[in-house]
Amino acid sequence: MTNNLRLWHRLMFVLLVHSGVVLGSELWPRINGGQSQCYPVQTKDKVSGAKGLLCLRLPWQDPKTLTVDIHIGSAGWELNDVFVWLGSNETDLPYDVEDAWATANFDEFTYTHKRVRERKISIQTSLLNDMGFACPNRATEYFAAVFATVKSIDGRKSEALEIVKSPTESMSDAANLLPYTISCQRFSRSQIMPRPVQSINGQSTSAHRRQLQDCPAYPSNTVFNLTEAEMSKVSYAIKLNMLVTRSEAGLMSKVRKEQKDNYELFNGWCDLNDQALVAKPKDEAVCYACFMGTNGLNPLDGIQNLILSSSLIGDCMVRNGYTDAYNTSYRDDLRCKIDECVQSCDDGLCPLVLSGHSQGGAAAIAAAIDLRHYRPTTITFGSPRPFMVTDDAPCTDLNAEQHYRFINTDANNYDSVPYGTLSGSSNFGQVFLLDDTNWPIGYPGFNADQTRDPQSSALHDRGQYEDKILAIMDRGCFPVPAAPWGQGHYCHYDDECFGNCIANTCRDEANY
Ligand SMILES: *[C@@H]1O[C@H](CO)[C@@H](O)[C@H](O)[C@H]1NC(C)=O
Ligand SMILES: *[C@@H]1O[C@H](CO)[C@@H](O)[C@H](O)[C@H]1NC(C)=O
Ligand SMILES: *[C@@H]1O[C@H](CO)[C@@H](O)[C@H](O)[C@H]1NC(C)=O
Repeated sequence: MTNNLRLWHRLMFVLLVHSGVVLGSELWPRINGGQSQCYPVQTKDKVSGAKGLLCLRLPWQDPKTLTVDIHIGSAGWELNDVFVWLGSNETDLPYDVEDAWATANFDEFTYTHKRVRERKISIQTSLLNDMGFACPNRATEYFAAVFATVKSIDGRKSEALEIVKSPTESMSDAANLLPYTISCQRFSRSQIMPRPVQSINGQSTSAHRRQLQDCPAYPSNTVFNLTEAEMSKVSYAIKLNMLVTRSEAGLMSKVRKEQKDNYELFNGWCDLNDQALVAKPKDEAVCYACFMGTNGLNPLDGIQNLILSSSLIGDCMVRNGYTDAYNTSYRDDLRCKIDECVQSCDDGLCPLVLSGHSQGGAAAIAAAIDLRHYRPTTITFGSPRPFMVTDDAPCTDLNAEQHYRFINTDANNYDSVPYGTLSGSSNFGQVFLLDDTNWPIGYPGFNADQTRDPQSSALHDRGQYEDKILAIMDRGCFPVPAAPWGQGHYCHYDDECFGNCIANTCRDEANY
């Protein structure tokens, strides 16, 4: 193999890959502008049309898929062998370019290899499946190296093609020409940031095997799994909940202006007490409608939470404070935009996600009943109980199976808002208790609406919800199990544990 490879001229790119960033537009090549790097190439024997560019780009649309696009602009040449290595440490890669083909033991490293006869190829590498990577946190660094060989179309000696070298005239320094950073973080794709040039000359080339970063084991009592697609919805929902919150993101008119280019569709409304938005991301055929929580600055809005009277939506009696938070002056506009968004998918039915934090969650629930013909997924974070259930209003019109109720916890407390004890109100759906590890997500059961004490309003903070959800996304282990907590986990109620909750600790019944 090595001998064969040496017949072709070698081109090597080393990409330093660490936390921080991602993508821009789809136009390429664009030298140093962000997403691609091009090398001028020429032939010594003046093959006509052989001058051109060899370009490489890393679209990083999905945090767990590395896409390497390589394009050779010289008419007389094709790509031949392409290798992509990944590592979690620079020493995981075969760095010494001059020696790499001669000495690299390819099996020493994890790589993807494609043999091609094309002028332009796209290689997709799954960090999880092909490379066995998890993405444990936002600070994790990954390193990637791409090797490509080229071959003349008419079989001329390939050595004739050479890279016009970088000013340093050192092949090793070519490694520094592609200092891209890529990230496991789904949402910070503002731009590709050039990483400060690091000298890699003198780096040891001794093989240093990549450590596999394993996902935690699945608990045997997993009740159900939250798929990656579902968790992606949850993470978009919590992000969009930030944009709909006036005290954090500002007035909706400003947010709309700032965000409209970042989404395929973005609309937002506000009135005195409430704000809502409808958004469809560019990379996901899903429609999100998010509702603002209590506007702490406006006492009138806080009062919405305390209104005890109720109105029917479908067969659900919803407390008027929350009905009003949905039944706003802009409700009809909002519904039109949701219709338009849902119909914008090829099959005419994009999935619809309704979401909100705090009072916004209850408004999302009211919307979910009103829009039940779309069979929406409702994702709430620390939502209060919105329903007054009676014999006449059993509330079967809420699709509770797809109502995901995230509730923040720590060892001592529960978010106080979901369990506020306003006069017999209730809630339905899948209860997900967030702790600091979220493996598994605590699952006391379907419709497990019992009041949990002690409570703390500090745990109601939207930012805490966001941090926990993003930590789950960053870990990159899917599906995420939801299960009663296991032996040794904190607890206050039996339904939180696989066994019993004894002295605030889950105990496996078998041991007691
Ligand atoms: C990479 O590996 C080398 C050698 O094992 C080690 O000294 C170095 O600290 C590692 N770097 C990082 C960033 O983990
Ligand atoms: C959850 O997913 C894991 C990993 O794919 C699988 O082993 C387990 O059986 C699944 N459990 C349920 C309840 O779906
Ligand atoms: C929603 O608001 C309209 C007026 O804007 C009102 O006629 C209607 O009764 C309200 N619906 C509910 C359920 O409160």
